[in-house]
Amino acid sequence: MQLKKEINGYPYVSYSKSTYPPNEMIEKSRSFHEWMEERRTVRDFSDKQIPKEVIDNIIKTASTAPSGAHKQPWTFCVVSNREMKTQIREAAENEEKESYKNRMSDEWLEALRPLGTDWHKPFLEIAPYLIIVFKRAYDKDGDEKKNNYYVNESVGLASGFLLAAIHHAGLVALTHTPSPMNFLTKLLNRPENERPFLLIPVGYPVEDTWVPDLERKPLEEVAVYYD
Ligand SMILES: Cc1cc2nc3c(=O)[nH]c(=O)nc-3n(C[C@H](O)[C@H](O)[C@H](O)COP(=O)(O)O)c2cc1C
Repeated sequence: MQLKKEINGYPYVSYSKSTYPPNEMIEKSRSFHEWMEERRTVRDFSDKQIPKEVIDNIIKTASTAPSGAHKQPWTFCVVSNREMKTQIREAAENEEKESYKNRMSDEWLEALRPLGTDWHKPFLEIAPYLIIVFKRAYDKDGDEKKNNYYVNESVGLASGFLLAAIHHAGLVALTHTPSPMNFLTKLLNRPENERPFLLIPVGYPVEDTWVPDLERKPLEEVAVYYD
């Protein structure tokens, strides 16, 4: 049962967390890692529909992420409307065409080559849902501006939770960053305190799906221990 009390004049609730003996902890962390290793970015989506409730739950999960001063500086816009998806595809492809032709460095294009990406973005029309993550640079209380803190870190974390929740639901996603993304502010009629952060199509993969054969860095390359 959750208990409540005041500390320094603010409301607190008691918190208890399930813990596990070391062996079970090792097994749980091992199997979670194995399962997360199976998450892949997919670029070929089926148009098969998914229940909207799944999207709601995924977003609720993302919104459990920690955030600077608990400001939760994010908005998740969910687009399933056909015409809006077409408009988003057209605008994204315009920007991407320009980027691939003139804006990206040779080094960048070289890094992208194994992924097989180009300016064509058919998935923006095919995937049943597009979740566009906006960061709130600040909040508004009437006319008053209210600061948010560590906005990029917070929205990055929420987006990570979102991707994990999508994977957990048995669906796939693409973390897409058409650049620049301001067209999304206009198309989705967002207020001026919100800035587009990521564009994430969500759905089922096509039946015969292939993804780049990528290797993830081994532990020794990503972790440094100070015993
Ligand atoms: C911030 C960010 C931006 C990305 N932008 C794009 C993008 O615009 N287009 C794309 O096809 N993939 C994009 N990706 C996906 C990466 O290419 C992909 O995560 C990476 O190749 C590793 O593959 P994996 O997700 O299957 O592990 C992006 C990923 C991140 C984290």
